[in-house]
Amino acid sequence: MSKVLVTGGAGYIGSHACKALKSAGYVPVTFDNLETGWEDAVKFGPFEKGDLLDRDRLDAVFAQYAPVAVMHFAALSQVGESMSNPGRYWRNNVTGSLTLIEAAVAAGCLDFVFSSTCATYGEQDNVVLDEDSAQHPINAYGASKRAIEEILRDFETAHGLRHVIFRYFNVAGADPDGEVGEFHRPETHLVPLLLDAIDGKRDALTIFGTDYPTPDGTCIRDYVHVCDLVDAHVLGLKWLEDGKGSRVFNLGTGSGFSVREVMQQSRSVTNREVPYSEGPRRAGDCTKLVSGSRRAIAELGWSPDRSTLDTMIRDAWRWHQTGHYEK
Ligand code: UFG
Repeated sequence: MSKVLVTGGAGYIGSHACKALKSAGYVPVTFDNLETGWEDAVKFGPFEKGDLLDRDRLDAVFAQYAPVAVMHFAALSQVGESMSNPGRYWRNNVTGSLTLIEAAVAAGCLDFVFSSTCATYGEQDNVVLDEDSAQHPINAYGASKRAIEEILRDFETAHGLRHVIFRYFNVAGADPDGEVGEFHRPETHLVPLLLDAIDGKRDALTIFGTDYPTPDGTCIRDYVHVCDLVDAHVLGLKWLEDGKGSRVFNLGTGSGFSVREVMQQSRSVTNREVPYSEGPRRAGDCTKLVSGSRRAIAELGWSPDRSTLDTMIRDAWRWHQTGHYEK
């Protein structure tokens, strides 16, 4: 069976990707430093502990497994922290990815699937964002991901590195079988924070900004189910294996929901009140990020069937109630 090197395979999205890869007949080899991931989440293939900045370790793992492709999820991904500590983001995300890309090329592993972000687009005056939209990130997280996209293009020109870049919108939900789910420490993402507030694990949710130029004053995001998202990655891998060449795909549904709408949906799924307070804007947040493209649907044959707000929150709530990782 073909092996795929999955960096960040112990994290939220990477662990779901490992499950999807295994179901599709691949052996996912997780490479993770466990700084933000969980060894308990590595359930679907071998685990190799290591850091992206450690070229020798990467070379050894490529030599041991001879993967046919890389899926690269490992990254720091907190917008707020990227504003206060940009050096950490540039070193870990950009230098780490560069080290990985060089190791992949040296090993002759030339199919590369990369998790990028809608944060590379930045603030765009309420337009819907397609893959050809200009990229003007307003935070160091988005800037670091855009830089990696550029590295991939240069390495294709110079070394024939074929790549699929996925620009994620807001990922939510959990594996409906409850094998893996979302858990970050510290948690910064809206849905798990909301669910924590609902069941008393934290006092309240703070809404970051109520004066945005949106109908209810709060930020609008395009939420996509993690299982749909990782399905697209498997399709992206097959796309490369079929020789279809490098391509960028947005992964979003095209529907935007405000923070207050997500809160309302959480109330109706859980049948409980959401304790909340209203706070100032968070540095680096864009007003509205909504995908304006159906390219992944049209070209990859992607069907994001689980990505309704109701299903995402329902799956996240089921996972949340299992109390996984909270040891
Ligand atoms: N929010 C709150 N209160 C909170 C947390 C979040 O109001 O306590 C709001 C944010 O201001 C934002 C929305 O909820 O409007 C979603 O925030 P998240 O932190 O869940 O996610 P982001 O929109 O910041 O997502 C960004 C990028 C993604 C990236 C993600 C990784 O757009 O591409 O960061 O953290 F994957």
